[in-house]
Amino acid sequence: MIGIIGGTLLLENDFLEDREETELRTPFGVAEVDLGHLNGVEVAVIQRHGRRKNRPPHMVNHPANFYAFKALGAEKVIGLGSVGCLREEVEIPALIIPHDYIDFFSSATVFNDSLVYITPGFDETVRKVLIETAKEVSSLPVIERGVYFQTRGPRLETRAEIAMIKNFADCVGMTAGSEATVAKELGIRYAVICTMDNYAHGIKGETVDYEVIIKRAKENAKSCLEIVRRAVKRL
Ligand code: HPA
Repeated sequence: MIGIIGGTLLLENDFLEDREETELRTPFGVAEVDLGHLNGVEVAVIQRHGRRKNRPPHMVNHPANFYAFKALGAEKVIGLGSVGCLREEVEIPALIIPHDYIDFFSSATVFNDSLVYITPGFDETVRKVLIETAKEVSSLPVIERGVYFQTRGPRLETRAEIAMIKNFADCVGMTAGSEATVAKELGIRYAVICTMDNYAHGIKGETVDYEVIIKRAKENAKSCLEIVRRAVKRL
């Protein structure tokens, strides 16, 4: 069983071969999980913004989602996400599989009543499979490493915030850092593949607009789905 977690846009396509909607009760709350097959592989799929698409990034229940993966026996999870690009020299759209992250603002954890301090990071095994598969099938450029900066959301960033964080990171998003932390706490191997859909606020003089991000993310999502379809088989 392989886990897949993505933003609404990447997953609204009905891509599972035999989809069964389930709800799993966890110690952290209920997780909505779709079970089925993808490319012949048993998968569990979570839409992180919920089936009704009403859960903004700062309200996503990361502990419940990853506890559900664990309970279902998913030892490896692929994340999908949309990010803003912090690098002027990168031509977007592009794909990035970050190797590290900065997440100062979220307190996502499964350890609320015990003293456990994990050493965070993305999983190299899952990352390597995502990189290899992306390079084989994607028509978009593939950036093999980079630092993901997680902001709290749901608002986008100010120009001043981006001017600061671009010195330390390559892309900016709102969920993958928390997911990586909670996954590691639960012993799940997790890495994320992101579409760089827009330049972050002020990069190349651009102003960001959520409607534009959504439109571009939709366009770029297709290429990610094909990568995931092949990657689950390899994992
Ligand atoms: N900022 C934060 N999250 C994002 C962005 C952005 O510019 N684009 C897509 N997700």
